[in-house]
Amino acid sequence: MSQFAGKTAVISGGAEGIGLSIAKALGEQKMNIVLADIDEINLEKAYLELESAGASVLAVVLNVAEEAQWQEVAERAIERFGKVHMVVNNAGVGGGSGPIEGQDAKAWQWTIDVNLMGVVYGAKVMVPLIKQHGEGGWVINVASMAGMGGVPYSGAYTATKTAVVALSESWSVELKQADIKVSVLCPAFVQTRIYESQRNRPDRYQSDAVAEADDGASSTKAKEMVERGIEPSIVGKRVVEALSQGEMYIFTHPNYRPIIQQRSAAIDAAFERAAKSPLLQHIVNQELDML
Ligand SMILES: NC(=O)c1ccc[n+]([C@@H]2O[C@H](COP(=O)([O-])OP(=O)(O)OC[C@H]3O[C@@H](n4cnc5c(N)ncnc54)[C@H](O)[C@@H]3O)[C@@H](O)[C@H]2O)c1
Repeated sequence: MSQFAGKTAVISGGAEGIGLSIAKALGEQKMNIVLADIDEINLEKAYLELESAGASVLAVVLNVAEEAQWQEVAERAIERFGKVHMVVNNAGVGGGSGPIEGQDAKAWQWTIDVNLMGVVYGAKVMVPLIKQHGEGGWVINVASMAGMGGVPYSGAYTATKTAVVALSESWSVELKQADIKVSVLCPAFVQTRIYESQRNRPDRYQSDAVAEADDGASSTKAKEMVERGIEPSIVGKRVVEALSQGEMYIFTHPNYRPIIQQRSAAIDAAFERAAKSPLLQHIVNQELDML
């Protein structure tokens, strides 16, 4: 029996794309699945698909940017399955793209509220439930390859995904004592509808006409790149493979390795120069004060 069997996973943005692929893969491991998504119609479709594949599923409508709605998901999950062992903070939107001059505050706020605060609330509400039973568990945050290094013309998305990587690193230390493993999934392009994220953008975050025009141009390009990506079904299976091996950083695109290596090398070279600076010799070998 796998280490996942009989345990319960809550998956945000589970109605389609990467979230649904993770739900399917975890369902195949005999986990109970709580699918939570803002899109009621696709949520129902995904629920039926998973159920007919033999999984135990609960579907709950959720806007991840609303903390109170996470509480409802928690209550429904406990009511149905008794315990929660895993939260997959997957829901995310591709927003806030374009040149620096065209940045729009509302697009940024939407991207921050969904991609970053959605992850914060998901952990804030679900981690206490995982701690409660003392059996340990998992927090899986879906960031992006964009969280591993700055992507031009993608400010809000890059900033939120980088924040999700940083949060995952922070939480992995914080939650170690509770035997909760934290992983961060960093895919490059996957064939989903992320380029149509605007479909889930609430009215209060709508921007002015100029910003929308910029976003339209960049979303056509994003669509082309996403369509050349890998199939979503691979991602769910890869997540199970990586979790089984206790991986913290989960990659799905090994071909991006040279780019990330270049970034790491540039950072290391910058440390090397700092270590040689006459201004800093007094702290080169100083002991570290870390939490
Ligand atoms: N597709 C890619 O190329 C790619 C690459 C790297 C990272 N990602 C990340 O993967 C995650 C999933 O994206 P995807 O590619 O499957 O996109 P998608 O648009 O196909 O699916 C996103 C799902 O999240 C739901 N959702 C959107 N806003 C929500 C909200 N406020 N509350 C709850 N649910 C919401 C949507 O209804 C949809 O079911 C995102 O975090 C995204 O940033 C995607």
